[in-house]
Formats: sequence, structure tokens, C-alpha cells
Amino acid sequence: MSDLNAKLLRQECEQQGLEWRVEVADEIPSTNDALRQAAAAGAPHGQVLFAESQSAGRGRRDNRWISSRGRDLIVSFLLRPAASMSLWPRITTLAALGVCHAIEEELPLRPTIKWPNDVYVNGRKVCGLLAETVHSPAGQALILGIGLNVNSHEFPPTLAETATSLLQAMPAGVQVRELDRQALALQLLKALSVQLGRLENGFEEAVQEVRQRAWLTGKQIRATADGLEIFGRVLDLDHEGHLQLALPDGSVRILSSADNVRQVI
Ligand code: BTN
Repeated sequence: MSDLNAKLLRQECEQQGLEWRVEVADEIPSTNDALRQAAAAGAPHGQVLFAESQSAGRGRRDNRWISSRGRDLIVSFLLRPAASMSLWPRITTLAALGVCHAIEEELPLRPTIKWPNDVYVNGRKVCGLLAETVHSPAGQALILGIGLNVNSHEFPPTLAETATSLLQAMPAGVQVRELDRQALALQLLKALSVQLGRLENGFEEAVQEVRQRAWLTGKQIRATADGLEIFGRVLDLDHEGHLQLALPDGSVRILSSADNVRQVI
């Protein structure tokens, strides 16, 4: 397994006019935590921190995020979008789309988006997103964390049925022992730059693309919304990327966020 080459990523960003300033840490507790601290200390928009390994990687709902050292992509972006904060929730939707584009540019896979913030391949999770806002005297920032399983082949027993990696998801017949994390990292930097550019203009078109890859559409789901368990059939996403859920009583509920979203078989 070769390490990510920060120098090459920085060169490519410069050549391609991408706004990112890339660092690669070897081992770090959490890239999101590191950039939260940097944001509070006034670091500007565009800082990107990859890590080869995290000792205290965090997922949503205080879950741990476990990645295999040197095998996956662990990265956080420090964003200070110029757009109104009311639009910042769109960033997760755009980032999920960016992850799909990056994967598709590089590999013969067709990722889907499991609302609100997971990317799936072959019906299993390959990527989770964690967006966190930072309020400090240095201003508001958003830290976008991405954990993408690239070459891992072992998952904790609780995830064994639901998680996969890009390598494991490759079509049968494609002989490959290791996927190129450096190439994927560069695709991710490019795709995130393009998609985040749609925060104010072009968001509805982005949602249209997300709809075409929406893993939950048509499925019966359970989820936790506003602290309550909810059950229904997913109809679609609305123009804001919110989930339209048909409830058993025939009414339709729009969810702007939810936790623990799972398909009911
Ligand atoms: C989830 O699916 O629960 C979100 C997982 C987010 C994991 C990433 S890995 C990089 C960044 N640093 C963290 O501590 N978490 C995010």
C-alpha cells in the first residue's frame, strides 16, 4: 500500500486551478477535529486534511468511524462558503454527488446515494459524510468529513453485512489487487470543487442528478426524525434534496434530516 503523496496532490490542485490547500497527516485522532480547531483559530476556506489513519475517527451520532491504515480515504475539508448559512445544509447533498462522480471517473462502478449522507455501491455503504458547523469568534465554518472505503477488506462484525469497499465492489472479472488512492483523492478534490460550486446556482440540477441515484426511492424505511421513530415509503426528493415520505395514514411528510435511516424488508 503506498501512502498518499501530498506534494503531488498540491501540484495537481495548482495546475488545475483548484482552491484546495492539501495536507496529509500520517496518524491523527480525527481529521474533522483537527480542522474544527483550525477553523476556530481562524484558518481560511480551502484547507484539506487527509490522514493515513485515525485513532478517534468519528461518524454520525457519536459512532466511531473505523478505517484501515493506508487503505481508505479519510479526509476533511474546511469550508467558509460565501453563501448564506441557510444554504449550508445543501453541502452534504452536493458532497455525496461529488463522491459519486469521483468514483465514476476512476472506476467501472455505479454508486448511489442513500439519503441523507451515505454513498452506496451494490447496496452496501462505501462512504459516509459528516458535516459539522463551527461557530467561533473567527467566524462560521463548515467542516466536511469524508470516509471512503477504498481497499479495505475487513469490517467490524456489526458492519459486516452492510459495509463494503470500492475494491470489494469491483465487477467480477476485473482483476485488480489494489485501487489507486492517489488518483481517487485527486478525483475527489476536483469533484468536490465542481459540486460545491453549485451551492447557490445549479443546486436544483444537482438534486436532479441525486434523484437519479437515490438508493431509497420506492423503499419502505424506518428512521428517527426529531427524536421520534417514523415509518413510510420513500416517494422522491424535493427540489431542496429533502426526503418525501408517504406515511401509513396517506399523508406525506418532508424530512430535511433524519438519523438511523434503514430499509424495512
Ligand atoms: C458516518 O457515516 O457516520 C460519517 C462518517 C464520517 C467519517 C469521516 S473520516 C474523515 C472525517 N474525520 C472523522 O473523524 N470523521 C470523518
